[in-house]
Amino acid sequence: MSSVKEKINLQNIPKHVAIIMDGNGRWAKSRGEERTFGHKNAINSVRNAINACNEINIPYLTLYTFSSENWSRPHDEVNTLMNLLSETLLLEAEEIFTKGLRLHVIGEVDKLPALVKEQLMNVVELTKDNAKGNLILALSYGSQREILQAVKQISEKVKKGDLQAEDINEHIFEEHLYTKNFPPVDLMIRTSGEVRISNFMLWQIAYAELQFLNILWPDFTKDTFFQCIVDYQNKERRYGKTSEQLEINK
Ligand code: IPE
Ligand code: IPE
Ligand code: MG
Repeated sequence: MSSVKEKINLQNIPKHVAIIMDGNGRWAKSRGEERTFGHKNAINSVRNAINACNEINIPYLTLYTFSSENWSRPHDEVNTLMNLLSETLLLEAEEIFTKGLRLHVIGEVDKLPALVKEQLMNVVELTKDNAKGNLILALSYGSQREILQAVKQISEKVKKGDLQAEDINEHIFEEHLYTKNFPPVDLMIRTSGEVRISNFMLWQIAYAELQFLNILWPDFTKDTFFQCIVDYQNKERRYGKTSEQLEINK
């Protein structure tokens, strides 16, 4: 067992970890390669994150795989990313299933190429009874869009008289987000050294611990992930209270 993994307190495992997998292009460029070489080398890191989560029983892992803004990249790059997604799904579907993972997709799935959408839906269907853990892929995902579509759905309900405006609260709002069946994010990790959120889960990270790592996504290992968990466990999550109050309630 890795020595980093041994430091993890299994009684304080985050329920939901979300990762902004960034830095593939720079990783490739630094090797004198095309950006797409970085995307190809990103898949092993995805495996590392999934396996690490599985080993320590983290029930929800969300991976920011393709943002709504990523559609504006060069056509060739978008195509490569979609093809890679498609190939990886085919190759990994069985592994996801045998690991007991249930696949979910959040985002504007209808914008994805028909084949990719179909393959995704097949794996979602195949794994729907799995309960060891949940793997959530954010694809064609933008948090502002997600929030707006929730506002629209809620407005419709109010207009029809199915909901009273004064009854809208955080809980009702959350029921209209793509993530309605998932707990809030406890830990959000971003690789590549950028310290920004890039339109990712703005509502869901309200009280998440944020970790920005100075490594590029293709260099992400299981130990990198375990170290993030150790660092997470060294934080005091106060939710607005004081340290003293938390000590009393221990
Ligand atoms: C993350 O790596 C992958 C996606 C956004 C799809 P990038 O492709 O953004 O790599 P950098 O940030 O340009 O290095
Ligand atoms: C965020 O990375 C999106 C994903 C990791 C899928 P980007 O590389 O697209 O983010 P920006 O453009 O640097 O903010
Ligand atoms: Mg990037």
